Amino acid sequence: MIENLTVDDSPELAQIYDESFPDSWSVETFHKMLSDGMGFGYKFIENSRICGFILCRIVCDEIEIITFAVRNQYRRNGIGHQLLHKLTLYAQQRAAPIFLEVAKDNAVAQSLYTEEGYQKISVRKGYYNGTDAIVMKLSS
Ligand SMILES: CC(C)(COP(=O)(O)OP(=O)(O)OC[C@H]1O[C@@H](n2cnc3c(N)ncnc32)[C@H](O)[C@@H]1OP(=O)(O)O)[C@@H](O)C(=O)NCCC(=O)NCCS
Repeated sequence: MIENLTVDDSPELAQIYDESFPDSWSVETFHKMLSDGMGFGYKFIENSRICGFILCRIVCDEIEIITFAVRNQYRRNGIGHQLLHKLTLYAQQRAAPIFLEVAKDNAVAQSLYTEEGYQKISVRKGYYNGTDAIVMKLSS
């Protein structure tokens, strides 16, 4: 089941982020992003547990994916595809393009985004601690 993210999800989101990326984001960081009027996103829930989420920001009718992760034990079950699809429907309603950055060495995420129709538009040199980021876009 997919639902909108709320600020109360912040502790669980920080935990999933911690499990999924080499760095950590605090509970306060998620709290701030979800309460500043621009942050929004979706969570995939099973048995009252958040299995994965996508956190975005909308500014001037452009959507940016801030972060996106699925708990390790739930991966490869289509949850990532479902979360991206939910975001695509929202973007289409607003005729808003979606942008994201993905590390050049993250082949799994790049493959998923490509399957969902995102296109590579540029490279940001050294964006992730020395690793290049690929900027991708989905036009509505
Ligand atoms: C990226 C991520 C969110 C995908 O979540 P998921 O629920 O596993 O995604 P899905 O099951 O819907 O889709 C998996 C897709 O990833 C890609 N993929 C998964 N494993 C792969 C592998 N070993 N090799 C290549 N592609 C792979 C495929 O495109 C696959 O789609 P397919 O099964 O239709 O071929 C998840 O792997 C994750 O949390 N990774 C760590 C955090 C991260 O990298 N986030 C993205 C930051 S930009």
